[in-house]
Amino acid sequence: MPEHSDNDDVLVELTKDHDEMRELFAVLRGGVQGEQREETVRQLTVEVIRHAVAEEAQLYPLLRKVFPNGDEVADHEIEEHSEVEVLLKKLEKLDPSDAEYEPTLTQVMNDLEHHATDEETNVFPSLRAKLPESELKELGDKVRTTKKVAPTHPHPAAPDTPPWNKLAGPMAGLVDRARDAFSSHKS
Ligand SMILES: [Fe+2]
Repeated sequence: MPEHSDNDDVLVELTKDHDEMRELFAVLRGGVQGEQREETVRQLTVEVIRHAVAEEAQLYPLLRKVFPNGDEVADHEIEEHSEVEVLLKKLEKLDPSDAEYEPTLTQVMNDLEHHATDEETNVFPSLRAKLPESELKELGDKVRTTKKVAPTHPHPAAPDTPPWNKLAGPMAGLVDRARDAFSSHKS
């Protein structure tokens, strides 16, 4: 797994998240089976949600502010998150033996891969060109903070405390379920 550092700027941080997802895709595509496959899917779900929540809370509002077409770009990325959310919800309800399980998982991975490449190609370089490194570093800290209080935290913040009170995005419902799944799995 790529090593995260507290000094990473936001674009490095988010790219490492993408790389983590890609490593999980490789494990799944490598044909891991049984409990290990389910565990990898759970891990992927948690990673995706943490990442999406951080992007929606910290990155997309910035896009809207700094680019003339920022609203359009942010809306497009959020739309892609929503599509993945629908698929993850579907996956959550399916038994791994269900005929639809694997095609749904494949679609999740394909969609996420597209989303990650799209951001790395079209969004991140424009932000790097536009903003000073100091600002990108500061945003990296904010993203790390958001991820720390996000669903994988064993003692999640109450929903009415920041930044969750700001998160009314499409991931909100899924976040709770992933957190529950994660904590019940841990205990
Ligand atoms: Fe992303």
